[in-house]
Amino acid sequence: MLKESRHALKMEPGQVFCDCTLGGAGHALAIAQDISPNGLLIGIDQDDSSLTEAPLRISKSQLTIHCEILKGNFRDLDELLLKARVPGIDGILFDLGVSSPQIDQPSRGFSYAQEAPLDMRMDPGNQTKTAAEIINTLNTADLARILREYGEEQWAGRIAAHIVQSRSKKPIETTAELAALVKEAIPASARRTGGNPAKRSFQALRIAVNEELAALESGLDAAIRWLNPGGRIVVISYHSLEDRIVKRAFAQAARTCVCPPEQPVCTCNHQPILTNISKKALLPALEEQESNPRSKSAKLRFATKAIED
Ligand SMILES: C[S@@+](CC[C@H](N)C(=O)[O-])C[C@H]1O[C@@H](n2cnc3c(N)ncnc32)[C@H](O)[C@@H]1O
Ligand SMILES: [Zn+2]
Repeated sequence: MLKESRHALKMEPGQVFCDCTLGGAGHALAIAQDISPNGLLIGIDQDDSSLTEAPLRISKSQLTIHCEILKGNFRDLDELLLKARVPGIDGILFDLGVSSPQIDQPSRGFSYAQEAPLDMRMDPGNQTKTAAEIINTLNTADLARILREYGEEQWAGRIAAHIVQSRSKKPIETTAELAALVKEAIPASARRTGGNPAKRSFQALRIAVNEELAALESGLDAAIRWLNPGGRIVVISYHSLEDRIVKRAFAQAARTCVCPPEQPVCTCNHQPILTNISKKALLPALEEQESNPRSKSAKLRFATKAIED
């Protein structure tokens, strides 16, 4: 949703733009054109492979911008932006989740379609807990809760029980073993609908391993604070749990009144922090959905930092 992001961010030459999910710098490069000349692009990613590829692509573009590439988790956005030594930012983007190269690299263990160790850490150098550890150590109730809450999996209880039974004979070590167990655990009728039955369980595990929802909440909170008046935030999410967090964070920051609900007349004179919130999430155009099937679940929301009176 490059065109939509660029349009919603409305960056201008010389401005400061922060891409919190640099990935292959596809978005960053397009938006960098808008801040050129003399703008500053701050690119953040927690994944080492993005941090080697993206700077190469940016330097090849020969845009006249300053560039600061930082390794880190956007959960620590305050610290990262302090490192970048900027007083504020004019535009910020979150394009959440995993990148296609991460999914396609079998050794990372993100994909149920490729045999690999159950890893799923986005930053293996700084994270110790892997998907295998979660699958092989949590009790049935906790495992079911993760599958239900983070994967919205209706057969969470059955899958968790089957995993626990199976691992009592031998630890579950690979993506293929887990995908097969999920398939066995659900009723035969459910195996025939809705794509690969392991999809939701893999999503749930990835969210749990990387503590993605907590990271998003902290990242959004900091991003809204760091925006300059009139600055814009764009978030592209890929499942309803993320989208709900974005929608709630924007609505919370856009409140015009914080009086107790039982109070009949507003006396708080509260100033909203965000304005111009996208009423509905934007969806990718049909051509993009066709050319990039992963984009089908994407939802884009944007907002503007209020200009103080
Ligand atoms: C969907 S890709 C971004 C693709 C990018 N917009 C592009 O056009 O190439 C998401 C990226 O965000 C990174 N990421 C996900 N969660 C993160 C977090 N909490 N902190 C830092 N980076 C994160 C992933 O490592 C991945 O590279
Ligand atoms: Zn009020």
